[in-house]
Order: sequence, then C-alpha cells, then structure tokens
Amino acid sequence: MSGTHEPLDDEIVNPTDNRYFGDVMAVVASRRRVLQGGAAGAAMFFLGSAFEGSIAGAAETGGNGVSSVLNFDAIDSSTADTITAPPGHTVQTIMKWGDPINGKAPRFMTDASNPAEHQNRQFGMGHDGMWFFPLGPNRDSNTRGVMCINHEYTDVQFLFPDGDANWNAPKTMKEQNAHGVTVCEVVKKGDGSWQVVPSFRSRRITPNTKMTFSGPAAGHRLLQTNKDSFGMTPTGTVNNCGNGYTPWGTYITCEENFNGYFWEETGGTAPAITEEQAEINARYGVSRRGFGYQWASTDRTWRADLDPNRPNTFGWIVEIDPYGLSRPVKRTAMGRVKHEGAAFTTAPSGQIVVYMGDDQRFDYIYKYVSTNPWADDIAAGRSPLDDGTLYVARFDDDGTGVWLPLVHGEGPLTEENGFADQGDVLVKTRLAADLLGATPMDRPEWTTTNEDTGDAFCTLTNNTRRTADQTDAPNPRGPNRWGSIIRWNDGPTKTATTFVWDLFVLAGPGDGVDGSTVAAASNFGSPDGLWIDPRGVMWIQTDGSQPDVGNNQMLAADPMTGEIRRFAVGPVDCEVTGVSATPDGTSLFFNIQHPGDDGTAEEPTLTSTWPDGDPSGRPRPATVVIQRMDGGPVGTA
Ligand code: FEO
Ligand code: CA
Ligand code: CA
Ligand code: CA
Repeated sequence: MSGTHEPLDDEIVNPTDNRYFGDVMAVVASRRRVLQGGAAGAAMFFLGSAFEGSIAGAAETGGNGVSSVLNFDAIDSSTADTITAPPGHTVQTIMKWGDPINGKAPRFMTDASNPAEHQNRQFGMGHDGMWFFPLGPNRDSNTRGVMCINHEYTDVQFLFPDGDANWNAPKTMKEQNAHGVTVCEVVKKGDGSWQVVPSFRSRRITPNTKMTFSGPAAGHRLLQTNKDSFGMTPTGTVNNCGNGYTPWGTYITCEENFNGYFWEETGGTAPAITEEQAEINARYGVSRRGFGYQWASTDRTWRADLDPNRPNTFGWIVEIDPYGLSRPVKRTAMGRVKHEGAAFTTAPSGQIVVYMGDDQRFDYIYKYVSTNPWADDIAAGRSPLDDGTLYVARFDDDGTGVWLPLVHGEGPLTEENGFADQGDVLVKTRLAADLLGATPMDRPEWTTTNEDTGDAFCTLTNNTRRTADQTDAPNPRGPNRWGSIIRWNDGPTKTATTFVWDLFVLAGPGDGVDGSTVAAASNFGSPDGLWIDPRGVMWIQTDGSQPDVGNNQMLAADPMTGEIRRFAVGPVDCEVTGVSATPDGTSLFFNIQHPGDDGTAEEPTLTSTWPDGDPSGRPRPATVVIQRMDGGPVGTA
C-alpha cells in the first residue's frame, strides 16, 4: 500500500469500445484542410474571424510561434529543492499545511503531532485548485481578498509522526480534517508581503461538513444514504481537485478521486449492493480497499458495502460562497464524474457555459449550458447551475465535433437502458456518456477559455496505457507519455452543439521528439493546471514526469501564437497546481502540492524539506505568491 494515497493511475474503468476509430495520417490531412478553411463543414459552423485566426495561426506555427503577450525571461528547468522564478521577481510562501487559518487557531507542530481538532482550524494538505476573491467596496481590491483553496489528498507519512501505523478513529478524523477546502482572508502588507488575517469568513469545509443537494438529482433514490434518507443533505466533500469561479462571485470545488476513500469489501456481493450499484461502482472505480485510506476501518460511512449509495454522493461540482457562511451546495445538473476543474464563460445570450474534464484514462470532456441567462436566474433567487443541459464531447477525426446531450428520454437514455429519469442520467453520468458514443480521452484535467476568441482548452495529462493501435485524431500518440492540450471552439454563440477542434500543443522533449510540438527549451510533460488570465497569458502547470528530469513546473503560453516559456519550477517531488491572481495581475498565486512525495508509509524517504528547509521537519504543501519587483502584472507587459 502506498502511503501517499495517490490515485491508482493505471486504472481503466471505461469498458466501452468508443475509441480507436482513426487513421491518424488521413485525419491529420483532413484536419489541416478544415483548419485552413478548405472544408465546407467547418466554414458552415464558424464565421468568426477571431476563431479562424487563432486556430489557423497555431496550425501554421506548430504551436510554437512568437508572442507579443509574454514578458519575462524564460528560465531553465531545475532539480533544486526550491521555487525557481525568473529574474526580477519575488517569491513568498504562505498558507502552508498546518498553518492557522486565523488568529485564534493552533500553530503547526513540526513533528506533526497536532491532533484532529487542531487540523480542523489549520490549512489542510494537498493544496490544489484555488481562487482569490477580492474584497473592498467594489470587490476589486488588489491587496485584500478571500482565498478559497482545495486540499486534494494527504501524504500520510508526513501527516502523522508515525505515518499510517496504529490506525484509530482520531487518525481518521485528523486525515479527514486535512482534506476539503479552506476559506480564509489574506492581506497584502505595506512591505509587499501577503499574510493570512483573522476573519469571520475563515472556515474549513471537510469530508464531515453538511451540504445540500440541488438540481434534478436532489432527493433521488440513488442519493439516499443511512444518514440522509431523503437524499437532500449529503455529508462532506472529498478529493477536491481543480476549481472554478463563477461570474456571480462563488467558488467551485470539484470532487475527483472520491472512489479511493471507500472500502467495498465484498467485491459487489454484499446484500445491500444491487446489480445496478455494482455496475456504477465498477464504472467509477469503487473497489475493495480504494487507494489505501483507512477511514473505513473506524468510520462506517466510508463502507460502500454497508451504505451502498454513499459513493454516489461524491463526484459532484460543489458551490461555495466565499463571502458568506452558507452551506455548500452540490449541483447535480452538472453531472457526476471525477471532476477535475470547471471553466465558466458567459455566452452572448447571457447563458452560462461550463467546460469540465473527467480525469481518468479513456474518459470524457463535458459541457454544461444553463437554460436561462445566469443574471436572470441569480436576480430571481435561482441557480443557473440547477437548470441546464449537460453534454459530452465526441471529437471526430475530421477536426469537427459534437456535444451530445445527456438528457433523459433522448437517444439511448431510456428506462430500458437503465435511465428511468434525469436523476439516473446524472448520478450515472459516465454510463450515460458511454451509450452516447463520447470520445475517450487521455485523462482530461483542467479546462480554460480564451475570452477574446471563444476558444476552449483542456489539458490531456498523459495516457501510457493507450496503445499504438488505439490512437485517434484527438489522442494521436500511443503511448501518450507526455500529454497534450486540446482546443475547440463552439462558435460565436458558445451554446452550439457542434464545434471545431485541434491540438494546441503536444508536450514532450521538444523539437519533434516523441511527436512533441513544443520547442526543446520549453519542454514539459503531464500538463494539468490550466488558466488563461484576464491579460491573455495561458498558465500551464505540470503534474508528472518531465522530459528532462527537472522538477514539476509552471509555464506561460500565448494562446494566440502558441509560444510557450518556462516561468517557474517547483521543489523536489512536488506538483505545481492551482493558479489565481489579484485583479491587476501583480500578485500571482499558485500551489505546491505534495513536495517530497516519493516514499511510502512503510519506507519513508525525505526527498524535500521545502518550504521550511528543516531537515528534522517535514515538507509541507503551500501557496506561493510571485510578484514583479517593478510592480507590473506577472507574466506580461
Ligand atoms: Fe487531481 Fe486529475 O488531478
Ligand atoms: Ca490535477
Ligand atoms: Ca494530474
Ligand atoms: Ca496530482
């Protein structure tokens, strides 16, 4: 058993054959024609010149053009146990695991002996997605804001003085309290440094926090549990990975590898587990012992054989009010998958459009479109995330694609096929998407949108299990060791159900090696975190092996020309993830997750002492703030 609780990366739970229909060479040729405007089909979809400019431009430059947006000196890769940043920048570390979330909380003990009750008032572990919500009279402050930060998973060998030995209920509670989300307030002081300050808004949201279900699946039979017989008030959020932020000022936390926490000791034969639930568990990877978490040994709510619907209460998009203290809401209309992140963009009609990845090998990319303009819903006291249509993507080999609606009664989503109502479709999103013929992708992680062009992007982090004969146009490498970033455009309305797409970049060693389209100097692998900031800089963060054995890193790209420059490198055995900034872009925040995560509980190895540098201490996930010494916006002019 790994002591790090990293997901079992080689798992494949998609049993369909919705794949491998491409002849790659024919596809590349036909996609070129589409992108150069030679295909009537694509021209019918898109009349907007911005779109033609962006996609065609990248195709011509091989994703490696020259940028007029980026404005910093690219750095070399590094194996140093520190944050490496470009010249002319300052680096500060805040919000470390174990730090108090406000003035009254207990301090971190370097031997990690803080009990569960302390951890519940300290920053959790596994920093991942996050967002800075400005305060001030117009909510546009560059020096004061509410920070929401996800805590995806724990390194048990660092969380306790004795790792995972002698497991008991207090250990379960402490590890649960190191998960979830932290909401806190941060202030930039006169000397330019940031600090966490006491606030009535400070709170921890954990696997034990009471939540509300809303939308079509709220109250559904498959969401009724031992503690919540109505299926309306689920307990907790877990494996909070990527994030989103809405234009109405709320935080979105995304539940990813929830399956790893459950024990289902009978392999589907427990009396309470129906044939239907066994099928759901198989498709979502609920297994006998998950990823090695021991919560189920002391907390029966994590026993899928005793409370068979409990796993169904995870895998949702959760909305949190950063400015107030209301109960978090699980928005069922947005589907149940291993949600990585959620990119929100407003359509010209005022409807909200959300792009979301489901991070598993051979799983899918989704889109949600609200029925009404979001501002109308908000003004009427409704949520635009409760009434809308969920779609899954089919990427066709000719460079076009279709958003397939996940709507009960349409196509194969009928009672005979196991979908008696929309709640069934949403709780069993993956199974419904299988029937629609969605395209299995190489682990869809974060999504983002370019507000200038309407282009949307998704990182496909890697897939070493795709074989050469399983390749298709959107996933052209088998194995896909280094990952890629795919781009699509739904046209000027953003609500269309057809799109055109291309590959923005194929990551790797660079200069064509392993098919990579990046320049060798900017080589990278395993793209994961992704965000185009309001100034037009695309931030790319990595989680996994790098082509030149440097540490995981953060790069900046120009989404119009495709130029990519290495911006920062993290400490040893970390992942760089989560990105946000002040409204003026002068403070850039990102997270270092699991520094030193190399050993197991049985064989701990200390490969990093970041950020404290204390060889008798332990590495700690933390948030990094980077600012330019000249006070300008980070990454750009
Ligand atoms: Fe939590 Fe797919 O990264
Ligand atoms: Ca991720
Ligand atoms: Ca990842
Ligand atoms: Ca990760």
